[in-house]
Amino acid sequence: MPKPFDFFASLKTLLVPVFFLSVLAGCSTTGSSEQGTSEADSAAQITVYKSPFCLCCNDWIKHLESNAFSVASENALDTASVKQQWKVPPSMQGCHTGVWNNQYVFEGHVPARLIRQFLANPPKGSVGLAVPGMPQGSPGMYRGKNFEPYVVYAIQSNGEYRFYEKVTAPEAS
Ligand code: CU
Ligand code: CU
Repeated sequence: MPKPFDFFASLKTLLVPVFFLSVLAGCSTTGSSEQGTSEADSAAQITVYKSPFCLCCNDWIKHLESNAFSVASENALDTASVKQQWKVPPSMQGCHTGVWNNQYVFEGHVPARLIRQFLANPPKGSVGLAVPGMPQGSPGMYRGKNFEPYVVYAIQSNGEYRFYEKVTAPEAS
């Protein structure tokens, strides 16, 4: 007799690797709830694709919201395919991918201030900004001490990237 299909056992098999992958990716796990979507001017709307287990992603979303962005968050188990779809170079990848108006991409812990600066004057050939990895000084990561400067890069439409700005102080909020 074949064993009956055990749904919960399969679910566990599926979720356990995902859990460890997200830990490996450097995100803390959390049971915290999703951020809601609110209506605001479309100029400040960002959709964030993130792992459902990532705490620092939620903290970055809070940073955007406290800087008057309206954020919709989408949990994606396969965040790699989202990054691929938005042509984020492998060396530029962070833990989450923010997409503005289906037009520009903001990868990783990019300060809201620089997102606004970019949107106000997008450099020619650039499709967005990236903070690769998860620098301790970046919004959503910074915990009030041990700030280290980090570099924000501009992602180019040809798959390359270039220096955009060096951040030398923590964001105000
Ligand atoms: Cu992160
Ligand atoms: Cu994140």
